[in-house]
Amino acid sequence: MAQDEQQKKHQFGGEWTTVKLKVLSDYLQSYTNALKKAPFHKLYIDAFAGTGYRDIRREGDDVASQSILFPDMVEPEPQSFLAGSARLALQVEPGFDQYIFIERNPEWCIHLESLKSEFPGLTNKVSILQGDANTKIQELCARDWRHNRAVLFLDPYGMQVEWKTIEAIAHTKAIDLWLLFPLGIGVNRLLTKSGEIPKSWRRRLSLLLGSEGWYDEFYKVESMPTLFGDDKERVVKATMETIGRYFTNRLKDIFAGVAKEPGVLRNSANNPLYLLCFAVGNERGKDIALRIAQHLLREVR
Ligand SMILES: C[S@@+](CC[C@H](N)C(=O)[O-])C[C@H]1O[C@@H](n2cnc3c(N)ncnc32)[C@H](O)[C@@H]1O
Repeated sequence: MAQDEQQKKHQFGGEWTTVKLKVLSDYLQSYTNALKKAPFHKLYIDAFAGTGYRDIRREGDDVASQSILFPDMVEPEPQSFLAGSARLALQVEPGFDQYIFIERNPEWCIHLESLKSEFPGLTNKVSILQGDANTKIQELCARDWRHNRAVLFLDPYGMQVEWKTIEAIAHTKAIDLWLLFPLGIGVNRLLTKSGEIPKSWRRRLSLLLGSEGWYDEFYKVESMPTLFGDDKERVVKATMETIGRYFTNRLKDIFAGVAKEPGVLRNSANNPLYLLCFAVGNERGKDIALRIAQHLLREVR
């Protein structure tokens, strides 16, 4: 199938995709402007890069193994053929010194390769790494970051990101992180109402949240007096607001700064799908980075 045809075939994502990409692209623009004269090697890292065309559920995407457990919330909507995060990053001027695109699907990596020909001046600056985002980011973060600064975008469909990856990013003290936290599409729905959660779901939640402490944060046992003079216990599950606060507080524990109010990306029925979170790794760059990010996030309520 011709590339254009294939990419047009399974596009999905609604207004929230536009919002997410607008925030990212505006931030990248402000970032490269602000650091134009700074003596750092500046990188853009896109860890769930796709094809360069926007948020397309493509033929060959293995939905189950990607843990997008509740795809019913993301309604397919016909869209025009628009730039995805990798392409938007390449369009930013002044540009970055290096672009690293990570993508697990080998076929999408070929599309990313062909993106290079559209930006001939940047060809030598673009690396495409095929593989798992968690592994690749942890490897990159283990390098010496003293002379580097980066913006890293984590845009998974579902529950793929692991807390130890987020810790490795924070540890560099050089990376500004934009992250889609799968609040409505994943976490809130794995947290069953009864509090009885299958073992594999618990494991996924712990990998993302970085500890098993989430259970006691998200479930409280309440005692209610009955008409017969005894007490009845019931399990009360946390609201999405509490779940979101828990995660942003976890980020605050490891980053120099975190945007106070993440953006809320909603589907057309107004249900929250993801939180668009921002965290900054470097103490010295923190204030300006947060000011810009918070200004952009104000539009995403
Ligand atoms: C939401 S899409 C990314 C969209 C892209 N940021 C854009 O704006 O066009 C998620 C992508 O992550 C890829 N992916 C899924 N699991 C992955 C993993 N563990 N490591 C790397 N890439 C993965 C999928 O193949 C898919 O292309």
